Amino acid sequence: MRTFINVEDIGNLQAALQEAREVKANRFAWQHLGRNRTLLMIFFNNSLRTRLSTQKAAMNLGMNVIVLDVNQGAWKLETERGVIMDGDKSEHLLEAIPVMGAYCDLIGIRSFAGLTDREYDYAETVVQQFIRYSGRPVMAMETATVHPLQAFADLITIEEYKTVERPKVVLTWAPHCRALPQAVPNSFAQWMRAADVDFVVTHPEGYELDARFVGNARVEYDQHKAFEGADFIYAKNWSCPGVTRPEDYGKILCDDRSWTVDAAHMSWTREARFMHCLPVRRGLIVTDDVIESAQSIVIPEAANREISATVVLKRMLEALN
Ligand code: CP
Repeated sequence: MRTFINVEDIGNLQAALQEAREVKANRFAWQHLGRNRTLLMIFFNNSLRTRLSTQKAAMNLGMNVIVLDVNQGAWKLETERGVIMDGDKSEHLLEAIPVMGAYCDLIGIRSFAGLTDREYDYAETVVQQFIRYSGRPVMAMETATVHPLQAFADLITIEEYKTVERPKVVLTWAPHCRALPQAVPNSFAQWMRAADVDFVVTHPEGYELDARFVGNARVEYDQHKAFEGADFIYAKNWSCPGVTRPEDYGKILCDDRSWTVDAAHMSWTREARFMHCLPVRRGLIVTDDVIESAQSIVIPEAANREISATVVLKRMLEALN
């Protein structure tokens, strides 16, 4: 595997899930693969889970790890071409990328959407430059439009907790005080469509996800109807994807607190499990009682980030060896 960005990159999902089970049962069995190999993790944005779980995954596989926080201690990087660099940015990404590639075997990148230029964000300009100029396999650690390590961990978790063969999985928008990217819901939608689940998306009008991710999934604007019979509730905020009105891209269109997932919402479901990628703002996305309830599986979900990252890095190392 040379890149890990979209669900297609992982190939057969059942095979990937089986591999995840094997990795979880014996996560140090492939230490030889990473010997004398280095993962460079590049963070343009903050992280807790991705940073720790991916580093742990690399250590499971016997790799060395270098972590670069671009905004803390590195030269400020210019990402646009054709600009006169007379501001505070000392280095261009187009020199920095091949230099970074020279020090490692695999690259992981976290680079969020700017949420001002839809075309720039949805072209995945930063990640594409890494793919083109680093000479190394590149793994998304949440980019402008996708978060596949999270979606893979989410799917592993659903497989572990499902009580029916084909569970109903509901992705619900929930309110937030800041404009957030669409990467998590995009990838979740993409992976759920590829999985054997009954997938429903619910959100206020104006929050339609991009068709390349949501495809022909059922969209239900009535949150109550969407929750009925659900086995899994996956809550997440996202800002306007600008599908119907490009001028609204990245904006907060709605602050309707009736979308916050509380106990009444959960009572509409079939004793659904509650999921969220974390970090989560309590009182906005979900109430304390729901996230602390026995139905909440946010902690095992986060723990499975180590498993998804181990499978992905393992496959990337196997392609190198
Ligand atoms: N879910 C997730 O990616 O968490 P972090 O932003 O803390 O890495």
